[in-house]
Amino acid sequence: MPRRLTAFTPSGELHLGNYFGAIEPLVRQQLPGETVVFVSDLHALTLPHDPAEVHRRTVRFAALLLACGVDPTRSLFAVQSQVPEHTELHYLLECATGYGQARRMIQFKEKSARGQQVRLSLLSYPVLMAADILLYRTDEVPVGEDQRQHVELARDIATRFNASYRPVFTVPRAVNPPVAARIMDLATPTAKMSKSIASPGVLRLLDSPDTLRHKVMRATTDGGTEVCYDPERGPGVANLLTILSACTGVAPARLAETFRGYGELKRAVADAVVAVVEPIQCRYTELVRADLHELLAAGAAAARELARPTVLAAKEAIGLLPAAHTPRDDRGGHAHGGKSGPSVASRA
Ligand code: ADP
Ligand code: TRP
Repeated sequence: MPRRLTAFTPSGELHLGNYFGAIEPLVRQQLPGETVVFVSDLHALTLPHDPAEVHRRTVRFAALLLACGVDPTRSLFAVQSQVPEHTELHYLLECATGYGQARRMIQFKEKSARGQQVRLSLLSYPVLMAADILLYRTDEVPVGEDQRQHVELARDIATRFNASYRPVFTVPRAVNPPVAARIMDLATPTAKMSKSIASPGVLRLLDSPDTLRHKVMRATTDGGTEVCYDPERGPGVANLLTILSACTGVAPARLAETFRGYGELKRAVADAVVAVVEPIQCRYTELVRADLHELLAAGAAAARELARPTVLAAKEAIGLLPAAHTPRDDRGGHAHGGKSGPSVASRA
């Protein structure tokens, strides 16, 4: 089985796009030793933030991910900053990454164009993300469309490092969920639903059912009256159908045939969204009151154990450690770039 990994940055509030684009596809297929999920709190420092909030928000994010179905008995679940191997590998990977490569990342271009003072970490954050991925010898990274370019960078860095030094890293690939790779903002259906944008068109996982219904009923729809799935000509209606499809598992074009008007479609979307979100909110209310300290400490210890051999192999390959210092890892040897590598039978 491929090892899958993803992470969530504790900035803003998780929304339905995050859920269907990244959380749900992962949760559906959790397998011990093969699934890694973490809260990427270091990534939250790339933009201005309130230090008093970072840790609190990280723990709330952890509680919400658990409420969404992340199961620590089947997934490795940790907080990034509690696993120092992430920052250790980050630096080694920076030494194998071109400045031009990092500067070409679309998110960096967009965020740095907003005119505020830009932190160096905003430029190098995709390299930290590559470290997150490569540390665990990840095969697949289930992410929405917007993160695809960063996973491509992780692939490039792994390939280049392996070719320049020695095959240390597994070359990962991004995998998309089938329908909901990009859920759009309900108020502006040409823009992606995003946690960093304050818009009435973002359906937050912790919005009350009434708020969710209200937001759906006020969603921007298109000129006509007919319900059809045409993302180009009718992005508002297509987005509602995509959301309903993600909630129900029925293809958007088939759903379109079952509605006579926009009002009927919106009521169905509101019901479906509330049905998905309500059980998550119930579990969250319990979990956010619980003490997650021990659970997260155990996750960090397990993550360190898994990550350590990769860091040692990378240090050895790049010349910081004498050859043959590296202990064998849990995959039975140094990592590789394809399917022909060492046996995975003995993985944790
Ligand atoms: P945001 O853009 O809302 O700040 P992140 O960039 O932190 O969200 O994304 C967290 C995960 O959720 C990533 O895997 C990302 O691809 C996915 N994701 C974010 N927004 C959407 C969306 N609108 N539709 C589908 N997936 C999304
Ligand atoms: N950068 C991602 C985001 O902002 C979160 C993230 C950090 C991530 N490390 C990762 C996603 C590794 C996938 C794999 O959404």
